[in-house]
Amino acid sequence: MTLEEKAAYASGQAFWTTEPVERLDIPSIWLADGPHGLRRTNSPEGMGMGGSRPATCFPTAAGLAASWNTDLVERVGAALGREAQAQDVQVVLGPGANIKRSPLGGRNFEYFSEDPLLSGRMAAAHIRGVQSEGVGASLKHYVANNQEYHRMSTSAEVDERTLREIYLRSFRIPVQRADPWTVMVAYNRVNGTFATEHDSLLHVLDEEWGHSGIAISDWGAVQDRVAATRAGLDLEMPGKDAHDQQLVEAVQSGALSASTLDRRVRETLEMVLRADRLHRPDVEFSDAMRERHHDLAREAAAESFVLLKNEDDLLPLDASADRQVAIIGAFAKTPRYQGAGSSRVNPTQVSTVYDALAETLGSEQITYAPGYPLNEEDGDADSLRADAVETARAADVALVFAGLPPASETEGSDRTTLQMPDSHTRLIEAVAEAQPSTGAVLSNGSAVAMPWRSAPKSILETWLAGQAGGRAKADVLLGRTNPSGKLSSTFPKQLSDTPAYLNFPGGDREVRYGERFFVGYRYYDEKNIEPLYPFGHGLSYTTFEVSDLSLDADSAHSSEGVTARVQVTNTGDRRGQEVVQLYLHDPESWLRRPPQALRDFQKVALAPGEAQTVQFALQEMDFAAWDPRRDRWTVESGAYEVRVGTSSRDLPLRETVTIEGPSADQGPVLDQHSTISQWLQDPEGRQVIRPLLQKMQAAMGGGEEGGQPGMQEIFGTLPLSTLASFSGGMITEAMIEQMVQRVRSAHEAPEATPEDPQEK
Ligand code: BGC
Repeated sequence: MTLEEKAAYASGQAFWTTEPVERLDIPSIWLADGPHGLRRTNSPEGMGMGGSRPATCFPTAAGLAASWNTDLVERVGAALGREAQAQDVQVVLGPGANIKRSPLGGRNFEYFSEDPLLSGRMAAAHIRGVQSEGVGASLKHYVANNQEYHRMSTSAEVDERTLREIYLRSFRIPVQRADPWTVMVAYNRVNGTFATEHDSLLHVLDEEWGHSGIAISDWGAVQDRVAATRAGLDLEMPGKDAHDQQLVEAVQSGALSASTLDRRVRETLEMVLRADRLHRPDVEFSDAMRERHHDLAREAAAESFVLLKNEDDLLPLDASADRQVAIIGAFAKTPRYQGAGSSRVNPTQVSTVYDALAETLGSEQITYAPGYPLNEEDGDADSLRADAVETARAADVALVFAGLPPASETEGSDRTTLQMPDSHTRLIEAVAEAQPSTGAVLSNGSAVAMPWRSAPKSILETWLAGQAGGRAKADVLLGRTNPSGKLSSTFPKQLSDTPAYLNFPGGDREVRYGERFFVGYRYYDEKNIEPLYPFGHGLSYTTFEVSDLSLDADSAHSSEGVTARVQVTNTGDRRGQEVVQLYLHDPESWLRRPPQALRDFQKVALAPGEAQTVQFALQEMDFAAWDPRRDRWTVESGAYEVRVGTSSRDLPLRETVTIEGPSADQGPVLDQHSTISQWLQDPEGRQVIRPLLQKMQAAMGGGEEGGQPGMQEIFGTLPLSTLASFSGGMITEAMIEQMVQRVRSAHEAPEATPEDPQEK
């Protein structure tokens, strides 16, 4: 390839396609949104917001994550991959693994969780599914793209430890477990540098994590084309001729090495040729495939619903023939089933819960009232509500379908409140007052506050449930499917309780991640704030018991890990699924740690009375924390408490294991500013300074024990460097320097520095 061909190849041809090189028989491939359905536009030019080919609209990531079922998410991914094959698309832009830093994030519906382990595993499953069909996934948006406000210019100001443990980890897991063909690099800046030009973040991706695919820009995210290429960005999307020219000139002037550009182009070529090789022109988006995928969308939706509350077993509905069911709320006929922005899918069909309930119950058994206006022409909220109240009163049971209006969940802007519209909340309260058997069914892609929570007997959270959400709702409401979803993010009582409250969304150029790694439940736990519904919460129509937690060892070296076993029993009278969750608590540690963190989970299906043993393999990474002074993952030795249960606030089973971490990982990194106590606590440090301290103490008229009371307290808090002034010349600055060198070389001996633990 000529220099000009290479420069052109490093960016797209049109909005959605890569550059072909006809002379060399190199094809062009098509990249299309993602993540929960294919948005294959009719033309390769332009954003194509106006129209795209019909595709299955699956539940958005917020819902999929609430299933806590990685197999299910992988099957959804595979369906996306098949549709991509059928539509001649080679890369599907998704999944999004950004952490939900605040419930107000405008794209929270497109993201999985506030927790990096859950988010990372869901993303890995999605990628495995898509790629199993010979189509690439694009893990996005790398990284710290946690808000919409000024998303193209703001700088996420976030410390290294927080990045590593929360925001990067959500990407590290899918990169190491599923190796996506592409990673999409975000618009925003991270600590001042645009993500697309961020050499250390791109280095982490490629070199530290071993990503074998390519880094592509989010659409229009490249500011400085040469800096981005140098930093590690392989492909700019869409293309810009001026940028191609800049690359040519940079290579000609020597500002960019020709080998760097070669490397970027080679990686993209490898991906394009692989995509071409794996393309299956025979795959058709047939009627049969449409139906199968609609059924999968229905199954996925039903499994993502979270039963938040269910007093007096209001659900499943008693739908005996003589019972009248009032269906209240315009969402029952005009569902909200996806969010707005680049992920908007043109569905192959849309089911409504009204039709689905009518189909089973028959139209004589149901009544309907819209309850609130969707548009101005629908009438005023007060009279619609009054009608709905009468409809509900006349029935035996009422279901209110409510949630967030479409405009509040969209790419490009964040929400400003946790409240649902007044017309929805007042409707729930008024209907519940008139009809004691009232249940609320919510459609929203992110947490909402529920000051009205005590009014209805049941609350079913159905997220943005995709095109088959209506049928899925009927399945769960009527008990054909037993709900088994769990919250993948905390529902707070009020906005001021949320972790990023003081720092979201920041100013127009900068947002400070002041809550650090206390994100999501880590924050509520640390601050002892009672959430509305905690992370991991979700009810079922049956009951489960978890019991008999045992560990295979009382103590272990971190490299060996430890296995936990627990029994889970279905103690009710229906078949159902439970998500058993394991958290680790580190009671005493040098690095400050959140009170507990999710380290594993498993979803089990059980018949009534059935029991199963669930096994969790805890490995080195589960005990690790990022130590900013050592600039790597470390495992502190000591006791760890294993906590198991069915929500982050319901962990009745606890066992302790003593873990021995690598010796180089223990305690603070010592230097002249470390205190005498810190030196004494460190095995190497103690050896280095003890003889001197003894000499000093003897000179000051006391033995180790014989000194005046409080010696240890007084001297222990002093930095080592002060000894040079306090020892009367006995200890010099040069000696201190030597001590620091000695302890450093003991700690940094090559055999002492452990390898980074891998994601399991
Ligand atoms: C979004 C991406 C999307 C891309 C292409 C961007 O604005 O941030 O998520 O994949 O557009 O539509």
